[in-house]
Amino acid sequence: DQPLRLGLAGLGTVGTSVIRLLRDHEEALTDRAGRPLRLVAVSARNPNKDRGISLDGLSWHSDPVALASSPDIDCFIELIGGENGVCREATRAALDAGKSVVTANKALLAKHGLELAAAAETGGGVLAFEAAVGGGIPIVKALREALAGNRITRLFGILNGTCNYILTRMEAEGLSFEQCLADAQELGYAEVDPSFDIDGLDAAHKLAILTSLAFGVELNKDAIFVEGIASITAEDIAAAEELGYRIKLLAVAQETDSGIEQRVHPTMLPKNSQLARISDVTNAVAVEGDFIGQVVLSGPGAGGDATASAVVGDIVDCARGFRAPPFGRPVASLKPYQRAQMRAH
Ligand code: NDP
Ligand code: HSE
Repeated sequence: DQPLRLGLAGLGTVGTSVIRLLRDHEEALTDRAGRPLRLVAVSARNPNKDRGISLDGLSWHSDPVALASSPDIDCFIELIGGENGVCREATRAALDAGKSVVTANKALLAKHGLELAAAAETGGGVLAFEAAVGGGIPIVKALREALAGNRITRLFGILNGTCNYILTRMEAEGLSFEQCLADAQELGYAEVDPSFDIDGLDAAHKLAILTSLAFGVELNKDAIFVEGIASITAEDIAAAEELGYRIKLLAVAQETDSGIEQRVHPTMLPKNSQLARISDVTNAVAVEGDFIGQVVLSGPGAGGDATASAVVGDIVDCARGFRAPPFGRPVASLKPYQRAQMRAH
């Protein structure tokens, strides 16, 4: 069988875990995909960095756009990060050349997702992004495939591992915000610029993607009310605890009579509620649909290995020839986003 030839851009936390996973599970992946998954080329900034993995035999591209357009690959894996510049260009180049793209880049998708989905439709390739939301949790496929029979009315949950890790450890161990953030960075959970995490923007990017999938509407991250956790103090956490609550950064999207409401903000949840018990880097999303009722998915929301699990799942889909409209329906049939009048919360 013809191998699926992979080109991987970004050899950081997620990229190196993806390479290890592809190597550790090579045989099983070949069986599951029905053909070998062959990593042939990589790209990063520094060719001399020790990444703890061997890059022997792989061709090196200092320019991810050249890698994305190379005739030597069938599938481009974008694990660099950032909403503009080289990621957008490289992803576009791969899709325009009819290749498949697997990405974990929620910032890129929240801003340019429709353009990229349209490019995938035109080029005939696949745009897959399970890893972009909820780390290892299969929430994208759940909404797009398994729950496709439902009319979704609401979804809510914890979508940023870094913030949940910080809030959990501040409460449980009395550590400072700065210490917890430094640990989250050390563990590879945080974005390159961690203000995206703590200011709620990363959760908003993910929410915009889920909203489009759940409600069949165009992405609109600018319609999201966003407040992060930077101003939450140890005193706030202690006061909430005394009252029987935990503070969580919650993301919510729901249908209302006037349109769709999307918001991300710190919320006090009763300590014994399901979401209040979600700790450390774990994420959780509750989805409500007319036939299913409520489904809750939870699992590791960040970290190299958990995210690699989702990336490789998408690669296997590409090898199998599975394709779905990236946002659940053809771009032309996504409804225009109608913003709800915000109510007091
Ligand atoms: P890292 O910062 O660890 O790695 C980024 C990689 O991109 C580095 O290898 C870097 O090269 C490379 N890079 C940066 N700029 C360029 C460029 N211009 N050309 C080529 N390579 C470049 O990021 P992560 O692995 O943490 O994240 C990657 C993506 O995955 C992001 O979109 C992130 O949001 C997303 N994500 C991350 C998760 C996590 O837990 N970390 C979870 C889910 C999604 P070099 O090493 O040489 O500097
Ligand atoms: N920085 C992100 C988080 C990575 O902490 O949730 C996973 O998308």
